[in-house]
Amino acid sequence: MSERPPYHLDTLTAHGAYEGDRESGAVVPPIVPATTYARRAQDYDLVGATSYTRDHNPTYEPLERALAALEGGRAAAVFSAGLGACACVIQALAPGDHVVAQKTMYWGFRNWLEDFAARWGLGLTLVDAGDTAAWEAAIEPGRTKLAWVETPSNPLWQVVDIEAVSALCRAAGVRLVVDNTVATPILTRPLSLGADLVMHSATKYLNGHSDVLAGALISAQEDPFWQRVLYNRSKLASVLGPFEAWLLHRGLRTLHLRIERACANAAAIAAHFQGHPAVDQVLYPGLATHPGHEVAARQMTGGFGGMMSLRVKGGGEAALAAVKRVKLFARATSLGGVESLIEHRATIEGEAGGGEGAVPQDLLRLSIGVEHAGDLIADLEQAFS
Ligand SMILES: Cc1ncc(COP(=O)(O)O)c(C=O)c1O
Repeated sequence: MSERPPYHLDTLTAHGAYEGDRESGAVVPPIVPATTYARRAQDYDLVGATSYTRDHNPTYEPLERALAALEGGRAAAVFSAGLGACACVIQALAPGDHVVAQKTMYWGFRNWLEDFAARWGLGLTLVDAGDTAAWEAAIEPGRTKLAWVETPSNPLWQVVDIEAVSALCRAAGVRLVVDNTVATPILTRPLSLGADLVMHSATKYLNGHSDVLAGALISAQEDPFWQRVLYNRSKLASVLGPFEAWLLHRGLRTLHLRIERACANAAAIAAHFQGHPAVDQVLYPGLATHPGHEVAARQMTGGFGGMMSLRVKGGGEAALAAVKRVKLFARATSLGGVESLIEHRATIEGEAGGGEGAVPQDLLRLSIGVEHAGDLIADLEQAFS
């Protein structure tokens, strides 16, 4: 990645690492739909940087440059989905390697990881996310090759101390991956805290409009592991289409504004429902009562994110009754769009979400968007009344 002037993250985001087209003067990048790329007559060298779109597409270039700049990495790559990015990392490991991850994190990845580890012969230890001593105890020097952190983590918004876990990993020669989907680089930059790789479900905040499925990885180093991840992207065909890449780049350019509003709205909603007669507990790292607050206050800059959960008095039935009554929130899964979403998480995860990290029946997960906070609070108030 080229050296960039030290602009603020807001400026880097708004410009999207695109300096305009020298020939046409276009201020936004083109979409390049070509699947195959020509060679020159005189020397049979490629005209550009790519031969075939499964390896690379020129539409990715400003997008990957922008992602690398935002996360402070040396390289970035986009994928067909967040889970595609996860799979390309895990499949860069060798059978026999050992992985440490969290009991409670995005259930789709945790379930796949458990299943795949069993089939591929990977060792896997799942720990309590917020317990740094548990990470330390789980790392087996020599055998553990990768630690996977998600913070704040689904759906309890537990906070992992990235700096502390990265110090443990470094000492034991373990590669640290941080799923930064929820915090985004606007609030947390894991590579600056010692992580080796950052992963995003770009489907969420990076795109921000609930209309693109995509993943992203940003790496501190262009080392052989990273080359293997890129090899997997091509050979396992976890490739993002050029139209989706273009949309993702466009959505990314307002990330800082969307995050700022989502954080302010979420903080207002969390404060309003803390101690509310219909709510047992508000799970939001911005609240001083949240077990991860102290670490979050140190690790997250500019806000605590737009994700929270409410544990409703009266259990699963009361939670389901409330979710059926909302009028402004959309009753839908996923997160990170401009519109606010609410879901009864245990229904969404079903039996597959059971076991040690099972979601409480009384939990409603909220993805707070960029609407007026007063309207969102009023909608929840009428749903709980
Ligand atoms: C934190 C987190 N990581 C990863 C994923 C998987 O991403 P995708 O749905 O883009 O495959 C999700 C999806 O919900 C997520 O919430």
